[in-house]
Amino acid sequence: MRIDVVTIFPAFFDVLEVSLLGRARGAGLLDIRVHDLRDHTTDRHRTVDDTPYGGGAGMVMKPEPWAQALDAIVAGSHERVTDAASGPLFVFPSPAGERFTQSVAREWSAESHIVFGCGRYEGIDERVFAYAATIGRVRLVSLGDYVLNGGEVAAMAMIEAVGRLVPGVVGNPESLVEESHEDGLLEYPSYTKPASWRGYDVPDVLLSGHHGRVAQWRRDQQVERTRLRRPDLLSE
Ligand code: ADE
Repeated sequence: MRIDVVTIFPAFFDVLEVSLLGRARGAGLLDIRVHDLRDHTTDRHRTVDDTPYGGGAGMVMKPEPWAQALDAIVAGSHERVTDAASGPLFVFPSPAGERFTQSVAREWSAESHIVFGCGRYEGIDERVFAYAATIGRVRLVSLGDYVLNGGEVAAMAMIEAVGRLVPGVVGNPESLVEESHEDGLLEYPSYTKPASWRGYDVPDVLLSGHHGRVAQWRRDQQVERTRLRRPDLLSE
């Protein structure tokens, strides 16, 4: 999978070198490239923002550098982009976007090319999304109901959630199946040795060797935890 990121803070993405995703990049499973939006400005000050039309607080990211950056990525990719449907998936993290979930991550893990556009300040000029929709598919996506300073941290989270679902990235694909949110419930609790530790004991059923009882207990724990911590998941 090819992933491009456009940002004014490329250093945010240095951590993609480490851990599982770093290994996946080394193995050629993920081709991740980070681009500095300021490289697509034409003025001496490398300006990326300006005051909002209509007034109001904060600054808005200018459309020209964004269009240049997106065009350069599409022109530099191996794909033959003949229309928006054959173009990359453009993802703009935004608190005003639709919700990012595990099922969105699953869906995106089948994409061949995703471009993350990380906005800062009060956001990106709205026309950028309309333009991007002529050279690819566009999604504005939110991590949750809170506001970050920019799209970088959100893009990192989405890259990790999607990247680990790309075949081969996680060594044991079975470990992906029994996770929180894969079946609409939170994951069951896990224990390892020792069976007794500082006065806390591992539940007897897990030591019983009885697979059927273990499976039933885990299922019950999933439902109970979900009911307590995330009742919203049960009513959906
Ligand atoms: N940018 C700022 N806040 C965000 C959020 N909650 N999700 C995604 N992108 C964001």
